Amino acid sequence: MTISRRGILAAGLGGGILIAGGGVWRAARMPQTAFGPWQLDPNPPTDVRLDAFRHAILAPNPHNRQPWEIRLVGDDAAMITCDLGRRLPVTDPFDRQITIGFGTFLELARIAAAERGYAMEIEPFPEGEDPHALDRRPIARLRFTQNPAVARDPLFDQITRRRSNKEEYDLSKPVSQSDLAKVVGDGDTGTIDPEWIAALREQIVAGIDKEITTPKAYMESVNLMRIGAAEVDANPDGISLNGPMFEIGKMLGLVDRAALAEMDGAVFKQGLSGLRATYGSIPALFWIVTPGNSRVEQLEAGRRYVRANLRATALGLGMHPMSQCLQEYEEVAPMYARVHELLGATGKQRVQMIARIGYGPAVGPAPRWPMETHLQAPVT
Ligand SMILES: Cc1cc2nc3c(=O)[nH]c(=O)nc-3n(C[C@H](O)[C@H](O)[C@H](O)COP(=O)(O)O)c2cc1C
Repeated sequence: MTISRRGILAAGLGGGILIAGGGVWRAARMPQTAFGPWQLDPNPPTDVRLDAFRHAILAPNPHNRQPWEIRLVGDDAAMITCDLGRRLPVTDPFDRQITIGFGTFLELARIAAAERGYAMEIEPFPEGEDPHALDRRPIARLRFTQNPAVARDPLFDQITRRRSNKEEYDLSKPVSQSDLAKVVGDGDTGTIDPEWIAALREQIVAGIDKEITTPKAYMESVNLMRIGAAEVDANPDGISLNGPMFEIGKMLGLVDRAALAEMDGAVFKQGLSGLRATYGSIPALFWIVTPGNSRVEQLEAGRRYVRANLRATALGLGMHPMSQCLQEYEEVAPMYARVHELLGATGKQRVQMIARIGYGPAVGPAPRWPMETHLQAPVT
C-alpha cells in the first residue's frame, strides 16, 4: 500500500490550513537532500558500472524500500543482492514484489549502460533461488562489455522524468487507444474499455480497502511513513509525506504516526476515502501476466513494467501500480482470485502488475538514498 498525497491531504488537514494561514505555509520546509540522486552530475563517473547504477537506483520499487545492494567485482562485473531487512513481510510474504523491483532496477542499469556503448549481461540468480523467500544469495551477476554494436535505447531520456503518479487522474481526458498501445509492450496488456475497467476497479478498490483496514498490513505502511521534510531527509525511502501541508499538519499536531495509526480516527477515515478516490480514477489499465511465477519471471515483469512506465512518461501519461489485489496474504485472497479470473490468468499464470494510466497533475520525484549507500565492499 502506498498512501497518495491526496489521501493524506484529505486526512484532517483542511482545518489546520485555514487556521495556519499563508505565513506558516511559506515557512514550511522542503526536504533538502532526499531528491539529490535525481540531479545527475553531467560529468558521469568514469566507471560505466557506477553510471549504470546511479540511474538504476531511480527505479520504481515497492514502498520505495530500495533494497539494492551493489558489489563491484573485478573491473567489469557486479553482484546484486537484497538487503533482507528492507522486505515487506506482511504484504509481500514471498518477496515477489521486491523481486519485481529488482527487475526494474536491472532494466534501468541496462539502458544506462547501453547509453555508454556497453552491453550489460544479466545472469539471474546465479546461485539458485528459493520461491518462498529471498536470501543472501545474489539476485543477479552482471557483466559489462564495451560493444559498439549496442543500440542506444531512447527510453534513457525518460529515466529521470519517470514517476509513479499517485494522484487522481482527469477522467474528462481519456487515454486514446493508440496511446495505450504505445505504452503496452510485447506480451503486456491494457484496456480503455469502461466495462472491463469497472469490473477491475471494484477489485482494485476492495484491495486497497482491505489493506488499509487490516491492522498488520496497514501498520507495515505506517511504520514506513516519513512525516515532514526532516524525517524524509533522514530516511529517504518508504512512504514520504512531505510538502507544506504535512509540515503544517505536523506543526499543529494534526498529523503524526499515532494519528495515522488510529483506525477509528478522522485522519484515518479521510485518508481511506482519499485512497478510494485515487485508486478509483482509472482512465486506462495496464497489466502484466507471466506463464508462471519463477524468480526469473518476476524479474522480467519488473523490466517490462519499468519500460511501460518510461513509455508512458514520454507520452505525458501518469502511471500508478495498484498491487493490493495481487498480493498473497489471506485477507486479499478473494480480490486476487477475481482479478486473475477477470484477466484470464489460469493455472500457473500470474498477474504480476496492474497499474492505472491517465493524465494527472505533475508530481515531483520520490526520495532516494544516494547510490553510494548501496555500495558494498568491492571484490577484487
Ligand atoms: C512491484 C511494485 C509494486 C508497487 N505497488 C504499488 C502500490 O500498490 N501502490 C502504490 O501506490 N505504488 C506502488 N508501487 C510504486 C512505488 O510505491 C514507487 O515506485 C515508489 O514509491 C518510488 O516512487 P517512484 O516510482 O515515483 O520513483 C509499486 C511499485 C512496484 C515496482
